[in-house]
Amino acid sequence: MPTPRNDGRRADELRPVGLEWDPMGFALSSVFFSAGRTRVLCSVCLDPEVPRWRRGSGSGWLSAEYRLLPASTPSRQGRELMKLSGRTQEIQRLIGRSLRASLDLEALGERTLLVDCDVLQADAGTRTASITGAWVALAAALERLQQQGVLAASPLRQQVSAVSVGLVDGQALLDLDYSEDSRAEVDLNVVMDEQGRLLEIQGTAEGAPFPRARLDALLDLAEPGLRALQEAQRQALAVAPAGPSVVAATRT
Ligand code: CDP
Repeated sequence: MPTPRNDGRRADELRPVGLEWDPMGFALSSVFFSAGRTRVLCSVCLDPEVPRWRRGSGSGWLSAEYRLLPASTPSRQGRELMKLSGRTQEIQRLIGRSLRASLDLEALGERTLLVDCDVLQADAGTRTASITGAWVALAAALERLQQQGVLAASPLRQQVSAVSVGLVDGQALLDLDYSEDSRAEVDLNVVMDEQGRLLEIQGTAEGAPFPRARLDALLDLAEPGLRALQEAQRQALAVAPAGPSVVAATRT
């Protein structure tokens, strides 16, 4: 008999997903995304220029920043905020690569999309929630740039979602919370597009090397979860407002 999960979920069940549109009125778009108790604020802003090293290339860029806000974890994130830790750098690069993979950067032109993922509450899976939530904000931002006449066509080419899977007490589990993540023997973060192609896999076997077949089994567990997240992303975009209401109200 598999050990029941703390929150009563099945092994292949995602945490409940929530999405609130445009909590930040001055961003091009923003979403407040939650996966269970993990909560991330994802915003997208436009810089009408590209970084110096990309000037003259005809192509755009997207960069991502990630941070755990001070009270997002049981012990306040003080030093973490002051310096860019290795963990933070690794996560923001992962978010940036995953989101860039969804874009045709030439179609963006020489512009930069700046994505910020600020974690309000961390209960594991913050990098995967950041990618899944930020992709929704990105898709809305590009739609709005088209509506504003800034972009003639959308540079969006792929839908991207991310989730974690892991082995906990020998059992393969989807979408680990902290109680599971902190004692997982194997922990994988998986990023996939809507064609089921893998964009990123980050994996750690905490001192417990595992056979290749377990990796396949974990990816098989991740895929339906990633597809369910993509369905949630599409549902959110179907009800996306035309723009943030705070800015609209300020402008009128
Ligand atoms: O959040 P994610 O699973 O993407 O990354 P992690 O480095 O595997 O961290 C797992 C969890 O550990 C985080 O979501 C937090 O709940 C916790 N954590 C923390 O409390 N303080 C940190 N400095 C880093 C992680």
